[in-house]
Amino acid sequence: MNTTISLKTKKQSGEKISCLTVYDASFAEILADSGVDIFLVGDSLGMVVQGRETTLPVSVDEMIYHASAVRRGAADTFMIVDLPFMSYSTPELALKSAGEVMKKSGANMVKLEGGREMLKTVETLSSRGIPVCAHLGLLPQSVHKMGGYRVQGKTEDSALRIFEDAIAMEDVGADMLVLECVPAEVAKRISQNVEMPVIGIGAGVDCDGQVLVLYDMLGISKGKRPKFSKNFMEGQGSISAAIKAYVSAVKTKEFPALEHSF
Ligand code: KIV
Repeated sequence: MNTTISLKTKKQSGEKISCLTVYDASFAEILADSGVDIFLVGDSLGMVVQGRETTLPVSVDEMIYHASAVRRGAADTFMIVDLPFMSYSTPELALKSAGEVMKKSGANMVKLEGGREMLKTVETLSSRGIPVCAHLGLLPQSVHKMGGYRVQGKTEDSALRIFEDAIAMEDVGADMLVLECVPAEVAKRISQNVEMPVIGIGAGVDCDGQVLVLYDMLGISKGKRPKFSKNFMEGQGSISAAIKAYVSAVKTKEFPALEHSF
């Protein structure tokens, strides 16, 4: 099984890290057998599994339900579990929610969205032995505040803010960072200036790894596929072959191409 240490070693050695979202035991088994480095049990399950408009209604119990199923499907893959909307609005609540997720689901790390306003919370979790993946750039839980699912960090000021937030997150103990929908140049600069692995989604090829929503990359999400995603089922005869093609494309830096980047 990967660990926070082995994932940092991959970054240092230049090996790209493959990550996919996963929400159940059957897919977990296929993904593990296909060589995916990290599972993300994302609160995107609210949209792709539950059919909701946003991720906001997802509860801690629902995250635990799905993450436990994933863990039963694959015992040995490093698993990050999202803390859902409003389950970490104070450091104390975050400790309670993250503690429950870690105890009940077998998670190896929790992920939470937000920048400098979350530093105390990340420090609290990290200092109690809970590994944290920060999430900067487009924050789906703040979709209403952000006015939609938009690329972030396009101006000098907003790019600097994301850069400073990434550095600060590492300083208070974050062990990983997801960067969502930011210009490739911004993501490259951040990846080069932190030791923690930076996993991009719509953040260009120079991140230390890539993540996609499983249903998008298998072409089974309803609606228009996001620009940064790719249907890996095209030309493949099985789900397993599609996942292996994704892992290989990430490792060889064929994915994401310029057409998937901002
Ligand atoms: O919930 C999720 O699937 C995520 C990814 C989009 C990174 O957070």
